[in-house]
Amino acid sequence: MKVLILTEKPFATKAIDSIKQIISNASMEAVILEKYTDKYQVLNAVEDVDAIIIRSDLMTNEILDAAKKLKIVVRAGSGVDNVDLVAASVRNIVVMNTPGQNANAVAELAIGMMIYASRNFYDGSNGTELKGKKLGIHAYGNVGRNVAKIAKGFEMDIYAYDSFCPAEIIEKDGIKAFTSVEELYRTCQYISLHIPCTPETEYSINHNFFTKMLPRAILINTARKEVINEEDLINWMENSPEVRYITDIMPNNDKKLREKFSKRYFSTPKKMGAQTTEANNNAGIAAANQIINFLLNGNTQFQVN
Ligand code: 3PG
Repeated sequence: MKVLILTEKPFATKAIDSIKQIISNASMEAVILEKYTDKYQVLNAVEDVDAIIIRSDLMTNEILDAAKKLKIVVRAGSGVDNVDLVAASVRNIVVMNTPGQNANAVAELAIGMMIYASRNFYDGSNGTELKGKKLGIHAYGNVGRNVAKIAKGFEMDIYAYDSFCPAEIIEKDGIKAFTSVEELYRTCQYISLHIPCTPETEYSINHNFFTKMLPRAILINTARKEVINEEDLINWMENSPEVRYITDIMPNNDKKLREKFSKRYFSTPKKMGAQTTEANNNAGIAAANQIINFLLNGNTQFQVN
């Protein structure tokens, strides 16, 4: 059987070696398509494969349709908003993710972004410290939990809200839980976003949230660009001269934001939350093992469709 590693943004070499080893130990063949530039390369590569490992790579209806032998797609990471789950289900293709495997990498970046913003983008001027500041974690999943764990070391005053995670669970970790998301935005100077992109969350961070935020609020987005209503974001930054937006997912309005708010806005050029050797290794190895376990033993743990 053939397993395709399909990553426009390549895994670290160490991770690729480990993935290939796992696949060949199971007497399967590993093939790789990295840094591709158009969908025809992808359509061609998926034609005869049984399994695919992806990152943020798109698995559209067209691509799934071209993959006539495909049985399983594993997203080496957590968000599956890049996969057409309905189209996969219609074709009996199992889709899995590897939850938690890159959570520490993303959490470390989120904290790094908080420091970067607090120290005025390292421009040499007087900044502020994280110690004692109120941090609001929006969604207390794998990444949110890791952010909380690291922020404790910085002695931040930590709050969280998660519509799916009961307050008692959050409080067990010594984190204050809010039962309304508005309260989180109203209370905390630092807001770190960790919500997935779903039809419910798309563009959900909008005027309603921005107008509740503190005058010196810092919004950190290591989740997805699609959860932000960019028009409302721009209005908020125009009307609140001290707020900041730092993101790991370049907004559609990046150019405009850079021109208007060069001292208060920053985006990484390419999503890099999970761009560490450790995260690539963890997620890549998990993805390869999940594929083998499914193809050889029918194990469907981590199936999302
Ligand atoms: C995820 O959903 O796991 C992260 O956003 C990482 O995405 P990436 O593998 O494309 O960097």
